[in-house]
Amino acid sequence: MKRVAIVTGGTRGLGKAISIALHEQGYRVAAVYHSNADSAQAFREATAIDIYQWDVSDPEACQAGIAQVQGELGQVDILVNNAGVTSDAVLHKMTVQQWSNVIQTNLGSMFNMCHGVISGMRERAFGRIVNISSVNAQKGQFGQANYAAAKAGILGFTKSLALESAHKNITVNAVAPGYCDTDMVAKVPKETLQAIIAGIPVGRLGKPEDIARMVAFLVHEDAGFITGATFSINGGQHME
Ligand code: CAA
Repeated sequence: MKRVAIVTGGTRGLGKAISIALHEQGYRVAAVYHSNADSAQAFREATAIDIYQWDVSDPEACQAGIAQVQGELGQVDILVNNAGVTSDAVLHKMTVQQWSNVIQTNLGSMFNMCHGVISGMRERAFGRIVNISSVNAQKGQFGQANYAAAKAGILGFTKSLALESAHKNITVNAVAPGYCDTDMVAKVPKETLQAIIAGIPVGRLGKPEDIARMVAFLVHEDAGFITGATFSINGGQHME
């Protein structure tokens, strides 16, 4: 039977490419979206991948959404926590709401989603979790104290859950993408973005498929010795 994979933020940007890559590898994919119903519907029509709507920052919505996926598609063996938002501002201009919205969506969702699937994975002694962090977690970014804090939090979360889960054949890894050609990056002011691209040694933005390829590799049955790791995919912009 096909393994079931949930991809949050799975109908646009990086998540869309990840959903498609997993679908093409033969997984049964549930692509979760939050607010952009039109693009989710277009995604569904173009790919025939199942779409689900809920807010990953809301613990109860995650519980209900995961239960619905399990009822309709089967037990969840693969989780890709990709959903994320930006709300950039320098700290002295950042509101409490900008801070908490980004922390709750980008980091709170790690708890909400992993908590919902981890017991089942433990019982079945198989699981693959991939959490999408960012180059800006690793190097910091002017105007992103909220985003960088959340994305760096993901790295500690990933390692801790990896330690707790390794003996159950559940791997937990993080992927830290650099600047990719997505709607999120398109919001960066043009001149700032040009300066950022000038600092990327490969000389271009990443393609969503560059990230999806790594995620597909990590969720594979044969990737069981890879856990607690962070994979930087940033065109050489930041090396550590
Ligand atoms: N380093 C140093 N100084 C900087 C700077 C930087 N990177 N960016 C701006 N400044 C300076 C400006 O030159 C300006 O200086 P002066 O006042 O002396 O002219 C001052 O800071 C204020 O700049 P702004 O007018 O731009 O300030 P603002 O409050 O209007 O906007 C901002 C600030 C929202 C952070 C804006 O600069 C911005 O959007 N920057 C892009 C942030 C970014 O890269 N976000 C990534 C989004 S994509 C993503 O997150 C995906 C991923 O994982 C990679």
